[in-house]
This record gives sequence, C-alpha cells and structure tokens, in this order.
Amino acid sequence: MDAESLEKSIRDDIGKADSFETLEQARIKYLGRKGLVTSLLKNIKDAPPDEKPKLGAVSNRLKKLAEELIEERLGALRGSRVGSRFYKPPFDATLPAHDGNVGHRHVLSQVLRRLKDIFFGMGYSLASGPHVELEYYNFHALNFPDEHPSRDVQDTFYVTDDILLRTHTSPVQVRYMEEHQPPLKIIAAGRVFRNESVDPSHAAEFHQIEGLYVDTDVSLADLKKDVEVFIQQLFGAKTRIRFRPSFFPFTEPSAEVDMSCFACQGKGCSICGNAGWIEVMGAGMVHPNVFRAVGYDPEKYSGFAFGLGVDRVAMIKYGIDDIRLFLGNDLRFLRQF
Ligand code: DAH
Repeated sequence: MDAESLEKSIRDDIGKADSFETLEQARIKYLGRKGLVTSLLKNIKDAPPDEKPKLGAVSNRLKKLAEELIEERLGALRGSRVGSRFYKPPFDATLPAHDGNVGHRHVLSQVLRRLKDIFFGMGYSLASGPHVELEYYNFHALNFPDEHPSRDVQDTFYVTDDILLRTHTSPVQVRYMEEHQPPLKIIAAGRVFRNESVDPSHAAEFHQIEGLYVDTDVSLADLKKDVEVFIQQLFGAKTRIRFRPSFFPFTEPSAEVDMSCFACQGKGCSICGNAGWIEVMGAGMVHPNVFRAVGYDPEKYSGFAFGLGVDRVAMIKYGIDDIRLFLGNDLRFLRQF
C-alpha cells in the first residue's frame, strides 16, 4: 500500500471508530506489533540507502498522525459517551472512598444560631423587618431628630430621600411595637448596611442582633441581668459585665456594655488590647419618644433594648482579625470553622 492510500485508510478507520473496541482494533491494525505503520517503520532498515530518509520521514509522519487521531477520537468517545453503552467508568469497590466536598454552615450562620438559641432559651421570640427600610423606621421613629449628628455615624445608601438600606436592626423594634401590645420580648437578627470606608474592622455590610423587652415596671436591673445571662452563656460563667454611660437617641439612659476578657480574665492581654475588657454591645432603656411614636403610653410601659454585632462576636470568639473575611467567600478561611 502506498503512503497516500495508507494515510487515507488510517483516517477512515479511526474516524469511523464509534466505540472503544473498534478504536482499539484500528490501533492494532496500524500501530500494533504487526501493524501496517509499524511494519513500514521496520522495513526502513532493508530499504536502499538513498530511500531511507524519505521512507523514515513518511512512516514517522503516519505514526504520529495515527497516534494523534486515536487520542482525539478517544477524547471524543469519552466526552460524549460517558454513561452510555460505549463507556463504563471503572469501578473498584475495594478502593477507599474519597473525602468528597461536603459543605457546612458559614461561620456567621453558626454564631447567629448560637446567639438565637441562647435568646430563645431566655424567652425571646423572633421578629424581622426589611433590609430596604423607610427613613421613618430607621431614624425618625427612633427619635433621631432630622439633621442630628447621630445620623452621621450611621450614613447609609439611599434609594430615595425616604427609602434607605437599614443601618441597624433597631427599626424592627418600631415595626413590631406598631403591630403588638406589651408584654413583648423579641430579638431581630439580620444584615445591616453602612456607607463605611472599609478596613479590617469596618464593613459596609454586617450583621446585628437586636433585643427588646417591654412590659410594665421593666428596670435597668432587668436589662443588666439579661445581658449578663446572655454573655455568660456565650463566653462562660466566669465572665463579668460592666455598663459605661453612652448615647443612643432611642434609649435613655444608654450604655455600652463591656465584658471581662475571656482570654485573660480581665488581667489584660493582646486580645483585649491590655484593657481587660471587651466592648460587646449597646443597650439602654427605651426612650419615651419611641413609645409615643408607636402609640404606647410611656407612663404605663417601660422597656429595655440592646443591639450587638454578630460579626464582632464571631471575631472575638474565634480570634478573627479582619471583618472582610466573612463575606470574602474564601474557602481557605471558611473551612476552618
Ligand atoms: N442600633 C445601635 C447601633 O447600631 C445599637 C443599639 C444600641 C441597639 C442601643 C439598641 C440599643 O437596641 O438599645 O449602633
């Protein structure tokens, strides 16, 4: 067979092969020990010296061609025929199982679940509100006067002048009180948004849990006890808390709550920046103006509220030093929890 017809027949046979078996037959026919191309190569040594180079070049070209076509055909058969009658994936029941890629809850979801569990155990139930919120609920009804500087620390993204991305979970307090009468004891959890310049401790999206308890005769002592029980469940029974005076428009009096550092028990270490205390939440007694906004009589009812950052709690609990990691979707980070 001359080189030309041999090439044609190689192309035909391999091109026609529609199963691994027929392809293997074609391989044997050309490249097997007694195959046509193989014999061609073997014959070189017997050829007259001046024909050897040409014969060598032709046979090598055909060998390469056949190999490439077979490889290509094999790829096509594998690709298109997986699972069909042409291809059975090898199966060996004695091989150890591979680890697989099992998903799990995001570290923030884990922490959020833990927080909710604690609060549910303390008699709180769950309320919710929208991320895209009215200015009225986010600020006005919470006793933030128009143009008041306390709005500046919660700059956010506005949809219109009256509609914005909520900066905290506190608007859920108002929405819930509008619909319900005391006594009530709720938490609200979820994502909040701020127009922050982003850095390791500031993100434009983060998460909060809000707490609200309203009844007759609710006092600051009730607030302190609930905060203490909550913190001790989360960080251990030895943890102490302290209240520092602070300001929030929707509470009076208002406080920042610190807890004793769980790592050094208050002695001072790198985790608490040598302070011995770690700031965990804002809290206070519900301001009478907030009650007025929802139609409650402030002479009759009193209540407390608190708000804490879920991301912050997760950072403290796990020693995470950059808030941006939570929404970074980096599996190397997420798989650690
Ligand atoms: N909403 C406040 C903030 O995001 C946190 C807060 C402070 C919530 C005091 C409260 C509270 O309910 O009583 O900065």
